[in-house]
Amino acid sequence: MDAKKNAAERAVEYVQHGMTIGLGTGTTAYWAVLKLGQKIREGLHVNAVATSVGTEKLAKENNIPIAPFSEIDSIDLAIDGADEVDRQKNLIKGGGGALTREKIIAYNSRKFIVVVDESKLVEQLGKFPLPVEVLPFGAELTLKRILSMGVEATIRQAENSNYITDNGNLIVDCRFGSITDPSSLDAALKTIPGIVETGIFLNTRVSTVVVGFKTGDVNEL
Ligand code: 5RP
Repeated sequence: MDAKKNAAERAVEYVQHGMTIGLGTGTTAYWAVLKLGQKIREGLHVNAVATSVGTEKLAKENNIPIAPFSEIDSIDLAIDGADEVDRQKNLIKGGGGALTREKIIAYNSRKFIVVVDESKLVEQLGKFPLPVEVLPFGAELTLKRILSMGVEATIRQAENSNYITDNGNLIVDCRFGSITDPSSLDAALKTIPGIVETGIFLNTRVSTVVVGFKTGDVNEL
C-alpha cells in the first residue's frame, strides 16, 4: 500500500493555495484525499470537485470543501489513479466504475496528475478489461454491438445483480487483450449508441504520471 500512498502524497505537493482540485476515485486517490485534508487542517485553502459519490463523502469527512460545478470557473488540478498506464502515458481507468465522472473532471482540468504503483505500468494497454459505461436502456443491443467488434465483453456484476454506476448506468468490461491504437478504439466505441463513455484516457490529457515503487522510491513520468 505504501507505493500507492507515496505516489498520491507526492502528487498533492502540486496543490497550491486557492486552487480548485479534482479528486479521483480508488485506493490510490484515497491517499491524496487524506493528504489534502491534512493540508487543509494546516491552513491550506482550496475548493474541490469529486469524481464519485464515495470520494465526495470521503472529502467531506476530511474537511475538504466540495464546490458545486455552477460555482467554479475551472479545475486547476485533478489527481486520480489508473488501472493501466502504457509507455506513451495512455490510460485505462474505470476499475472502480467512476470513469465517466473521472473523464469529465480530468479532461476539464488544466493539469491532470495520475497516481499509480508500479504494477500499473504496462507496455501496451488491454490486459486489464476496458470498462465502458453503458445506458441501461437497450443495454443488450449495445452489448451485441460491442461483441460484434470481436471482443469478449460482459456486463459487470455486483452481489448477484448488475453493477450500477453513480450515474445510474451499467459497466461493460471489454477484454481486448491488447490495444494497439487507444485513440481509434475510443473513437470507434463512441460511435455505438448507448455507450456513454469509455475508460480510455488519452495521453494528450495526462500531464504527469507519479509512480510509487515497492522500494519506497517515487518517480515522475
Ligand atoms: C476508478 C478508477 C481508479 O482510479 C482505478 O480503478 C485505479 O484504482 P486503484 O487506485 O484502487 O488501483 O479508475 O474508476
